[in-house]
Amino acid sequence: MMAMFVPVVFLLCVLQAQAMDLHRVMVMSKTAHFVPKVHCWCASYPNRTLCSWPDSLHALPTHYIATYSERLRQSVNKPCHIIPPGQSSELTPGLPPSAQQLWHCHLPDLKLLTDYILNVTAVYPNGSSSHLSSFMVEDIVKPDPPMHVRVSPQNAKMLLVEWDPPSTWENMDIFPLKYQIQYQWWIKGSMKSVNLGPFESTKIPLKGLASGRTYQFQVCAKEILGLGHCSDWSSPFNVTISRTRP
Ligand SMILES: *[C@@H]1O[C@H](CO)[C@@H](O)[C@H](O)[C@H]1NC(C)=O
Ligand SMILES: *[C@@H]1O[C@H](CO)[C@@H](O)[C@H](O)[C@H]1NC(C)=O
Ligand SMILES: *[C@@H]1O[C@H](CO)[C@@H](O)[C@H](O)[C@H]1NC(C)=O
Ligand SMILES: *[C@@H]1O[C@H](CO)[C@@H](O)[C@H](O)[C@H]1NC(C)=O
Repeated sequence: MMAMFVPVVFLLCVLQAQAMDLHRVMVMSKTAHFVPKVHCWCASYPNRTLCSWPDSLHALPTHYIATYSERLRQSVNKPCHIIPPGQSSELTPGLPPSAQQLWHCHLPDLKLLTDYILNVTAVYPNGSSSHLSSFMVEDIVKPDPPMHVRVSPQNAKMLLVEWDPPSTWENMDIFPLKYQIQYQWWIKGSMKSVNLGPFESTKIPLKGLASGRTYQFQVCAKEILGLGHCSDWSSPFNVTISRTRP
């Protein structure tokens, strides 16, 4: 396993300089039309890359056309498979309600360490407008949040924080995840926050929290080599440290 990490790390370093240049976004509209704002992410490296965009609030397009190509082979276009708002797909399980109103499209079979250009075109009766975005999958990795965060007292001085990896991250043996914990509490009207990690395990013991105080715990997940971004924070788990010793 480790043998394959080494070349990946090396390549990532070599490509770092180029990666800086990758997030350029080009917007083209032949008319005064609303241009879709497209956001792409990979929820299970290297396979589950999706892009999403909202409908215009003003004029509804008749349809969207979404295609992608390698930056160095722009003549070869492939369809990005469109998933309309509200339509469930095995690729978009557990989307938050806010995301259920978005259009999505799925980019199958992306190559590693390759620049891609995605073209999402909104077609209107009187014209069209395209949004072009450029990315490399490694830069847009973003797992779904960890699940089932739970905190339990172990003894008078120690808590155990546990969670499950996001079920959508499919290749845990080849691309493990690491995690960060954030806990927050309110004191005299202001919020304090502590971040811990990264951890490779899915549970950690924690000491030194104040009795009688309520803490809110959340966890985020990131690809272990640091590809892309940490997930959104998990749903919070609140725990009040008991004053009485068990
Ligand atoms: C196309 O129609 C929309 C309304 O349906 C209008 O807002 C827009 O200005 C029109 N564009 C052009 C170039 O005529
Ligand atoms: C990616 O998905 C394809 C089919 O969708 C599958 O054949 C392949 O094994 C997957 N790759 C990984 C690394 O999971
Ligand atoms: C984007 O896609 C639209 C619709 O297929 C096409 O008309 C347009 O030329 C494309 N733009 C680029 C820059 O490839
Ligand atoms: C958890 O605690 C935070 C403040 O510490 C509070 O805003 C939030 O509503 C609580 N959540 C639940 C589910 O009790």
